[in-house]
Amino acid sequence: MLSTHDEIIEAARRYVRAEMPDDYTGHDYLHVERVWTLAKRIAHECGANATIVELAALFHDISDYKLNGGCETAGPEKAARWIEAHTRSRATADTVAQIILDIPFRGALSPTGAPLSLEAQCVQDADRLDAIGAIGIARAFAFGGAMKQPMMSAEIKPQLHSSFDQYRRKNGTTVNHFYEKLLLLSSRMNTAPARRIAEKRHALMLEFLHHLSRETEIEFGMEHKDS
Ligand code: ADP
Ligand code: NI
Repeated sequence: MLSTHDEIIEAARRYVRAEMPDDYTGHDYLHVERVWTLAKRIAHECGANATIVELAALFHDISDYKLNGGCETAGPEKAARWIEAHTRSRATADTVAQIILDIPFRGALSPTGAPLSLEAQCVQDADRLDAIGAIGIARAFAFGGAMKQPMMSAEIKPQLHSSFDQYRRKNGTTVNHFYEKLLLLSSRMNTAPARRIAEKRHALMLEFLHHLSRETEIEFGMEHKDS
């Protein structure tokens, strides 16, 4: 049994690193390390429980529904089993599992569900920060390529999805994903430190899309119905 915070976190890092398969969709172990680092920083500034936040950050993509055939509970259950076995705390295991279940993005117009705990807010913000800015651009194109999705199209327009089912079954382009999700994230950050970091990353994505549109002569974004 592990007892100190540092022992638990180090063991969890080793376990998650070994468990995460080679991945070319942007969900590799380095994503987990970046989310962990950001989540720690945000949690410290917000006064959140460090062990809960760090464990949830480390385990949050352990079996992602997008990559495991669509099962949303496999990841949280796997995390809870490890945490309970290594900390003997059922409460910690359950809290972390609930956070992992609560944080994914479920579509631009999807209902947001129950309010998140402070710890869940920190992890969700950290995960979302790694989806925007320069790293977010890189991950989006890596994901799109791995899913054999077109990079961009003059014909296929973005859609704001009003249910999780619609969002996860969409057939779109990587550039549309910026309008369907990535450009919405900076104004949806839960915590002040994340909002600060998000502002710069958001501006960089807008600049990137502006140049991409000029170079390709394709107009991106939502259709304007009033013209
Ligand atoms: P999160 O980890 O915040 O739940 P996801 O797991 O949905 O984010 O996505 C992981 C990465 O893959 C993110 O960088 C995201 O932008 C990217 N991604 C997800 N869906 C798409 C898509 N349809 N097109 C391009 N990139 C995508
Ligand atoms: Ni993630």
